[in-house]
Amino acid sequence: AGTRSRISVIGTGYLGATQAACMAELGYEVLGLDVDHAKIDSLSAGRVPFYEPGLEEVLVRNLDNGRLRFTSDYDEAAAFADIHFLCVGTPQRADSNAADLAFVEAAVDALASRLTGTAVIIGKSTVPVGTAGRLAERIAERAPAGADIHLGWSPEFLREGFGVEDTLRPNRIVIGTGSPVVEAAMRELCAPQLEQGIPFLVTDLPTAELVKVSANAFLATKISFINAMAEVSEAAGADVIKLAQALSYDDRIGGKFLGPGLGFGGGCLPKDIRAFMARADELGVEPALSFLREVDAINQRRRARTVDIARGLIGGSFAGRTVAVLGAAFKPNSDDIRDSPALHVASAIADLGGKVTVYDPEALERAKQEFPDLRYAHSMLEAARDAEVVLLLTEWAEFRDADPDELAKVVAEPRIVDGRNALDPAHWRARGWTYRALGRP
Ligand code: UDX
Repeated sequence: AGTRSRISVIGTGYLGATQAACMAELGYEVLGLDVDHAKIDSLSAGRVPFYEPGLEEVLVRNLDNGRLRFTSDYDEAAAFADIHFLCVGTPQRADSNAADLAFVEAAVDALASRLTGTAVIIGKSTVPVGTAGRLAERIAERAPAGADIHLGWSPEFLREGFGVEDTLRPNRIVIGTGSPVVEAAMRELCAPQLEQGIPFLVTDLPTAELVKVSANAFLATKISFINAMAEVSEAAGADVIKLAQALSYDDRIGGKFLGPGLGFGGGCLPKDIRAFMARADELGVEPALSFLREVDAINQRRRARTVDIARGLIGGSFAGRTVAVLGAAFKPNSDDIRDSPALHVASAIADLGGKVTVYDPEALERAKQEFPDLRYAHSMLEAARDAEVVLLLTEWAEFRDADPDELAKVVAEPRIVDGRNALDPAHWRARGWTYRALGRP
């Protein structure tokens, strides 16, 4: 009571930068740490190095009021705070589907060896179940004499594009720990959220780790379920949009994450379900998650199907044909192109000989770096110029609201594949377009 906790946030990527800024916003003194000097320079100057609506305001406000600072120095972070959040990335390994824990281990080693007195480390990164238990042993081995370090795991459920909102007002807070010190520290830190009545669950370490990956597995399954229904609808001449609507009125099913289309991508769902399967295999319960292989396969088939629909529309071959792709980010309101379905489709068409021009409101720079062989345009109309087919692959508002007449003036042929079921088919057809979508007649 009285003096408020000082917090360090280790890792200032998407998760950590948001966590650091939001904890400062709640009134805590926060030091963000990253080994990447470019990130630290950018954040210290008040620039968020990725696209996240609303985050820059929170960052700048808290830099200005002095509650938030950034560093690359572990000595400084260890001395500054008594609570340390681990927010480093856990990407998919290059050689397998498992999660790469190198960043988490490096962060824990660097931090634990420098701590003194009583300290709390709370992991937020998505890790395979069992990791936190092993890290606790690692911390004990590296802790200097006299240091009393307590570990907890509190998974993060934030969605890109809603990072600030989801961090300040999460729909639940889960803390896995066996330590009363960690539980007390979390209750105090989360007091502003507990006052709002946000559910607070205390679990053991493995349960907390599992909550995160099982939530993402469920969400991925829901999307692939409706996309499987889209596949059947295509074969049967049914309309998956109407089908999804009818299902959604059953509140046991619900309408969220039931949007059929090109499927899921991004830095979380695809890698998390693969790492989850790999972990189940290690635990000897591989059959329990074999359905996730189908979830992944259904998701991949939507990409192939989108390419096929577009190819069919232009007479069976992309060779030498002009194609416009609207969207590069894995979803709207993000510049993240990790495992982006849109870029997967764009590059597949280019590989088949199509002359593909891509436009995205925010993700062009990242797309250019990752896919330098595609062509890029700086507006929707520029991308669509002379196109024989247009593909809408990320449902930015700019594309949803596109005027079919404007677009018709610049294309070679008014043909569109709506990969996100974002447009009104009747409207586009009435304006003279050949309109095709996934899962609809
Ligand atoms: C997700 C989880 O939602 C979040 O809780 C977790 O912490 C991280 O992973 P995010 O990757 O930001 O967040 O994206 P999300 O908004 O969940 O969308 C994931 C993908 O599913 C996107 O590619 C989106 O286009 C796709 N999607 C979503 C659909 O195809 N249909 C839907 O109905 C919903």
